[in-house]
Amino acid sequence: MGATCGHWMASKELGDIVLIDVIPGLPQGKGLDLLEAMPIEKRDSFVLGTEDYKDTANSDIVVITAGIARKPGMSRDDLLNTNYKIMQDVVSKVVTHSPNCILIIVSNPLDAMAQTAYKLSGFSRNRVIGMAGVLDSARFRAFIAMELGVSVENVTAFVLGGHGDTMVPLPRYSTVAGVPVTELMEKSTIERLVQRTRDGGAEIVKYLKTGSAYYAPSAAVTEMVEAILKDKKKILPCAAYLEGEYGIHGLFVGVPCKLGSRGIEDVWEIRLTDEEMAALKKSADSVKELVAVVGV
Ligand SMILES: NC(=O)c1ccc[n+]([C@@H]2O[C@H](COP(=O)([O-])OP(=O)(O)OC[C@H]3O[C@@H](n4cnc5c(N)ncnc54)[C@H](O)[C@@H]3O)[C@@H](O)[C@H]2O)c1
Repeated sequence: MGATCGHWMASKELGDIVLIDVIPGLPQGKGLDLLEAMPIEKRDSFVLGTEDYKDTANSDIVVITAGIARKPGMSRDDLLNTNYKIMQDVVSKVVTHSPNCILIIVSNPLDAMAQTAYKLSGFSRNRVIGMAGVLDSARFRAFIAMELGVSVENVTAFVLGGHGDTMVPLPRYSTVAGVPVTELMEKSTIERLVQRTRDGGAEIVKYLKTGSAYYAPSAAVTEMVEAILKDKKKILPCAAYLEGEYGIHGLFVGVPCKLGSRGIEDVWEIRLTDEEMAALKKSADSVKELVAVVGV
């Protein structure tokens, strides 16, 4: 997925891009291939593939997608121990070579990996951001648009909570041309779309069999990177380290964030019903359990 992130970002000319991996030749081959597409795309993003962190020195943003992905039948949580070790390795090298960067964490289990990166990097909380909500919301938006036969451009949606089975889609705050979907669809239809959103990752894994989704996740990362690089102050659902917001302390959970040049510049505390708040707490509890396993 890292290469596909590079693809979307280069096609938007967001900056110069370095792809890094531990498989000899893989990042170099993908990087050169992408670079050679730039004259056709009329983009001046320079793309380099490498196994050496020196080539990544002083990056503004580092997106970490390193780690194993799910196979059919696996949950995101099954990846915990392997990806924790990979995250340790990657974060220590990133911090050495790009001490001022903003980290965007993508590897699963997402919230626990973001917490790992936050604790190991020693960065301030605005500079460590987990990507999940933008993807989960995009899935929900795609399903709403398909159901109603309207343009995806008309659909906004919010999915909060951890990136897992306990994610919290918020239909009340999801709209079509400004009209809440709760006004436009039967409750049972909304529930069906919410469930498909929760199972969105597994649905793709089941089709692909050898890996997990990458087009939509990397498009989601690209939206976050663009918001930061262009200082857009964009409100996007991101996994953020909470220090009391929503009554949650010392844990990464998906909440609405303002993304700008300093990373997470604000966390929005929107009003939730008791039921929505209970779902968010339940989601936070499952993140807490994972975080306890790796002790971060
Ligand atoms: N947050 C999300 O919404 C979301 C969505 C999709 C996938 N993911 C997660 O992202 C991760 C990557 O998925 P993918 O589809 O790109 O998998 P992938 O197998 O295609 O790529 C992962 C890459 O990481 C590399 N890697 C392993 N150890 C490394 C290390 N120490 N340093 C550098 N690179 C290393 C591997 O060589 C591999 O090329 C998985 O954990 C997956 O579950 C998260």
